[in-house]
Amino acid sequence: MLFHVTHRKGPPFMSMDLFEKCRTFEDAKFLLNAGVYPFFRPIESSTGATVITHGARRVMIGSNNYLGLTHHPRVKEAAKKAIDHYGTGCTGSRFLNGNLSSHEELEERLAKFLGKEACLVFSTGFLANQGALSCLIGRNDAIFSDRENHASIIEGTRLALGDTIRYAHNDVDSLDRVLDEKRSQYEGALIVADGVFSMSGDIVDLPGLVRMASKHNCKLYIDDAHSLGVLGERGRGTGAHFKLTDEIDLIMGTFSKSFASIGGFIAGDTDTIHYIKHKARTFMFSAAMPPAAVATVLECLNVAQDEPEIFVNLWKNARKMKREFTAMGYNTMNSQTPIIPVMIGDEMKTFAFTKALYESGVFATPVVKPAAPEGQALIRTSYMATHTDQDLDYVLEVFRKLGKAFEVI
Ligand SMILES: Cc1ncc(COP(=O)(O)O)c(C=O)c1O
Repeated sequence: MLFHVTHRKGPPFMSMDLFEKCRTFEDAKFLLNAGVYPFFRPIESSTGATVITHGARRVMIGSNNYLGLTHHPRVKEAAKKAIDHYGTGCTGSRFLNGNLSSHEELEERLAKFLGKEACLVFSTGFLANQGALSCLIGRNDAIFSDRENHASIIEGTRLALGDTIRYAHNDVDSLDRVLDEKRSQYEGALIVADGVFSMSGDIVDLPGLVRMASKHNCKLYIDDAHSLGVLGERGRGTGAHFKLTDEIDLIMGTFSKSFASIGGFIAGDTDTIHYIKHKARTFMFSAAMPPAAVATVLECLNVAQDEPEIFVNLWKNARKMKREFTAMGYNTMNSQTPIIPVMIGDEMKTFAFTKALYESGVFATPVVKPAAPEGQALIRTSYMATHTDQDLDYVLEVFRKLGKAFEVI
């Protein structure tokens, strides 16, 4: 199993060299030796929708840059100005010396954008999930978590003192059953799910989760990492998409995708955000999001307001690719968003297919165990507002040729 770590419990243990496991770790070396290692490909330059890697131009369909704003002239200009104004870094936690007036401006703007009372900005989305979940869930509380939630949610649940109970992916009946069985054993309870699932591209059954939260007296937490900029009016996310924003207690998000930068946030009611601000250790003891990153997100919010055509382009491109892949005979699972997985099945075939794509000028990423179930390895593709028809037609032509060569279609 690729990169899977197991933990043995209980004595007796024999004393041994701590680094022995590093010397005997073969998974990645096996792929390197087989010439299909698809990770850490250095990007030499980028326009967003295309990149230069290993000296050649490739169409990028492996990013999370849904709106293509990393290269928007206004966004780049705002980032440069912020460096002139504040410098390059904050050199400390917001709690102590690293709090900028622009962090606070961003929090106010995001709270308004999302329709929540308050917001707290972290240095990454990973830290936002880890910090918020671990400080909210006490010893007598429980988290009810979708099986396909992101790794940062899983890390948050591991740090939390209370228990975590998982339910079948996006299956409200499964959630109802585990809540019927377990809810009464705990004081507080939180239902946690991604708004858009990052590998399969499907949208959470938010109306179902809202019903469960009300029926079983739980709070509801939605990770909108892949929904912001994608779902809802002007990219306001899953709550806006379903017109259920008020029913979500906490909205978590990241700036590392549509908002073209790095950083994360959690938004909700004033008291809960105030509590997280003074309790989340990943917020208090980690350096603040840098000035250029903050300015980038503020300008992305302006662009989202001023240029509604970016959302139209994003969805036009996503719908085209879903339609064409399906017509070719690819299994794109239950994808409903610009994330379109292409099911390959066998793990080694998936690595070989990814390599063939790369050599043909298409940069995509494989998803294997444990991120995908055994025998269901896939290639994750994702589309941007700034892909041209020429880019997309080229990608389709390559997939048509390789799909037949690899006997996938
Ligand atoms: C669903 C989800 N949540 C959280 C994160 C973490 O966000 P960040 O990249 O800001 O650490 C990611 C990033 O991959 C994600 O896909």
